[in-house]
Amino acid sequence: KGSSRVFSGIQPTGVPHLGNFLGALENWVSLQEQHSSVLYSIVDLHSITQPQDPTLLRENILDMAASLLACGIDPEKVILFQQSQVSEHAELSWILGCLTSMPRLRHLPQWKMKSKVKQEGSVGLYTYPVLQAADILLYKSTHVPVGEDQVQHLELAQDLARIFNHHYGDVFPEPCALLSSTRKVKSLRDPTNKMSKSDPQKMATITITDSPDDIALKIRRAVTDFTSDVSFDPERRPGVSNLVTIHAATAGISVDEALRGAAGLDTGAYKTLVTEAVVQRLQPIREQIHRLRAEPAHLEQVLSRGNSRAKELASPVIAEVRHRVGF
Ligand code: ADP
Ligand code: NA
Repeated sequence: KGSSRVFSGIQPTGVPHLGNFLGALENWVSLQEQHSSVLYSIVDLHSITQPQDPTLLRENILDMAASLLACGIDPEKVILFQQSQVSEHAELSWILGCLTSMPRLRHLPQWKMKSKVKQEGSVGLYTYPVLQAADILLYKSTHVPVGEDQVQHLELAQDLARIFNHHYGDVFPEPCALLSSTRKVKSLRDPTNKMSKSDPQKMATITITDSPDDIALKIRRAVTDFTSDVSFDPERRPGVSNLVTIHAATAGISVDEALRGAAGLDTGAYKTLVTEAVVQRLQPIREQIHRLRAEPAHLEQVLSRGNSRAKELASPVIAEVRHRVGF
């Protein structure tokens, strides 16, 4: 796949949770093997659409960098970089914003959701899908791994590529979605909702640096139901099915194989098996995160090299854009 280019970003929210890992990051790792040109960005410009403490943000960026490396992202195979350090993102975002109508943004799902909670969202929150489009187009990316929740944002990027090309001549390819795994990890406390870092219940979310004891406790407290055997039926038995999903994904086996392993076990005993699978999968990652976090200078160096490489790709594109626009 010579001419393909993959772009994806993740907000520096600190150490990822099991849902991020199984739903997104494992896929990121396999994409780096399948495509020759891949960029992964820690999108700190996006993160300030919500209030951030500067000291904590700086820590969170390094936590995310360490986590990505520990999960298997290889900076020799991909460009791993920090969005804010490549100022072309902000510049292209401004230009694309001038091609975006207000109503086009009003109906996007994240704005609807987050501005409702906040009453008054910022301009940054409102226009952040434009910045997302800039992130993608800045590298003339062709493929973007997205979850279903991001499909409408990718459609904006496609529209903006078309609109820009229409106004100023062909510059951007229209990026297409790489619909990533439909694997959704649910909250351990309310398995009708997804596992999320914003869940106020601590016991609901497994973080990839959780200790084996923490993992065991959280899984022991996981909501199941009044049936004692193990089966996979996400509609009627969301709690138990979530454990099967987690077991299969962390052990690298199919759901059927997981169920075979659960034969004869009640949900209580099965939780021990699931715990073992999760602990085994996360243990080396957790240890590697701790090693990497002890050497922040190394992490900064990895990011700094990624930033330069990203900038090298971005600057001729921005030069072309500026010229087309008439600057
Ligand atoms: P959160 O919901 O915790 O805020 P994000 O929205 O920052 O997580 O998601 C980052 C990435 O992780 C996205 O690609 C998203 O699709 C994926 N992801 C988040 N939560 C889950 C989950 N519970 N199961 C599977 N994938 C998830
Ligand atoms: Na989110």
